[in-house]
Amino acid sequence: MKEYQAALTFWNSFFKEEKPEKLQEATVGCTFLEAKLKELASAHKVLDFGCGTGWASLYLKQIGCEDITGVDQAINAIDTAAETAIINGFTEGITFIKGDESYFDNIKNNTYDGFFSSNTLDVIPMAVTSKILTQVHRICKPDAMIFIMLNPYLTLELNEKIKMEQISQDSYTKDGILRCVNRSKAEWVALFENYFIMESYDEFECDNEPKGYGRRMFGLRNKK
Ligand SMILES: C[S@@+](CC[C@H](N)C(=O)[O-])C[C@H]1O[C@@H](n2cnc3c(N)ncnc32)[C@H](O)[C@@H]1O
Repeated sequence: MKEYQAALTFWNSFFKEEKPEKLQEATVGCTFLEAKLKELASAHKVLDFGCGTGWASLYLKQIGCEDITGVDQAINAIDTAAETAIINGFTEGITFIKGDESYFDNIKNNTYDGFFSSNTLDVIPMAVTSKILTQVHRICKPDAMIFIMLNPYLTLELNEKIKMEQISQDSYTKDGILRCVNRSKAEWVALFENYFIMESYDEFECDNEPKGYGRRMFGLRNKK
């Protein structure tokens, strides 16, 4: 899909100006997310897929998670994440890798007991997402803790403000770039339940966002 190819380039450019930073206190600016990441930090080996500049991975490291791998196809994001880890003295137990869904091909079954992905599966075509979820199920241990965070559902009202172009039933572009794969909670649940057990679902906002902003968090357990 050419709109997705354009998105891969877009994300790499998007992260070009990001600079590594010295982290102060451990925070991601979202009380709800911090609670979820604290749960996830009890896993021994966590994969953060589509990690961007690695904020979730770095927070997990700050709060004591043993082993985290962040993967993203955007080299600019991965370089920033890796440099942030270095300047903060995180020399062990955190790794950033440039990779896409082919990353999974060399990972053995039952490798991870924790998985996180934020605002990534809803910018990827469904065919690729299905491949990713099949692989996540395989490389995660039975009962692994899985958190998938997605953007708010795109309503007509919201799209009137951000003005994306609808190119298929669930896909929206801006300037020819795939920016949103819009699915309802029920549609995501039906997909996730092929691989995982649903444990929780929350809608939340970050600390600087208006109440009812509607970010979505699916708490899942890998099926045996
Ligand atoms: C909306 S950004 C989210 C980044 C980060 N998780 C965050 O919350 O800030 C989507 C990310 O998904 C990455 N991405 C898109 N398709 C991917 C793929 N097939 N494999 C790995 N990363 C991908 C992009 O490079 C981008 O960094």
